[in-house]
Amino acid sequence: MSEFKSLDEALGSKVGKFLCWPVFDKEAAEDRITQLRGLGVDSVALGGPHRVLGYLILGKGHVGVVIRAMFQGREVALKCRRTDSDRKTMDNEAKLLRKANESGVGPLIFAHSMDFIVMEKLVGPYFGDWARDNIEKTDEIRKNVSIIIGIARKLDVARIDHGELTKIRRHFIVTDGGPRVIDFESSSLGRIPQNLTCTVQSMFLHTKFSNVLAQAYSMPGKDELLEVLRSYKKNPDEENYRGILRVINLI
Ligand SMILES: Nc1ncnc2c1ncn2[C@@H]1O[C@H](COP(=O)(O)OP(=O)(O)O)[C@@H](O)[C@H]1O
Ligand SMILES: [Mg+2]
Repeated sequence: MSEFKSLDEALGSKVGKFLCWPVFDKEAAEDRITQLRGLGVDSVALGGPHRVLGYLILGKGHVGVVIRAMFQGREVALKCRRTDSDRKTMDNEAKLLRKANESGVGPLIFAHSMDFIVMEKLVGPYFGDWARDNIEKTDEIRKNVSIIIGIARKLDVARIDHGELTKIRRHFIVTDGGPRVIDFESSSLGRIPQNLTCTVQSMFLHTKFSNVLAQAYSMPGKDELLEVLRSYKKNPDEENYRGILRVINLI
C-alpha cells in the first residue's frame, strides 16, 4: 500500500494529480487543498483496485475519482469532483447520500465540500465481478441477491431514486458484511423511485448479467415477473413488494 501524503506535500506528489483531475490547474488545486483542510482531511494516498493513468486508486467515474484519505484517525474514501464533470458541486450527491444513510444505505458520509465527499471506504469487488467469480456458491449468490433487493426496496421506501440501478453490476460493492450500494451522483428526491424495478430488471430480464445469474439462481418466468413489476409500479406497497419477492424466488 502506498504511503499517505500530508496536505502540504500532496500537490507535489503523484496522488495530488487526482485532487484536481483530469485538468490540473494550480489555483484550483490550491483551493481544493484549502477545502480539504476545512473538512479535516489529514492526508491522501494512492492505492486501490483500479488503475487510472498507471496509478492504482479506489475508483473512477464520470463525476469523480475516488482516492484513499485519512480523516479523524481513520482511513476513508475521498471522492474528488472531476474538473470536466458536468456537476458544479458535490452538494446534491452529499445530500442524497446523507438521506440514504438515514435508512442505513450507502457508504457513511462524514463530510463534504464543493469538490469533495469524505465517506466510508468500502472494500471488495463489484457485485458483477463477485457473482461471476463465485457463481458456484449458490447459497451466497442467493443471499447477496436478497440483500441487494432489500437495499433497493429501502431506497424506494425512503423515496430516493438512485438513478443508476439499471447498472447494478458496478453499483454494488460486495464487502465482508455483504453488498453495499455506491454512487448517489444521479440520485433524486423528485422522481418516482424505480430502484426495485430497475434492480429486478437488470438482474432477471435479458441482461448479460441475467445470463450469468441463471447459472446459479432459479430464475423467474418473464411474464409472471412483468406482471408483478407492473403492479408494484402502480402501487409500491408491502403486498406488491412481497409479490415480487415470491416471483423472484426469495420467499
Ligand atoms: N465509498 C467507496 N469506497 C470505495 N470505493 C469507492 C467508494 N465510492 C466509490 N468507489 C469507487 O470509485 C468508483 C467511482 O465512484 P462513483 O461514485 O461511481 O463515481 P461517479 O459518480 O463519477 O460515477 C466506483 O465505481 C468505485 O469503484
Ligand atoms: Mg457512477
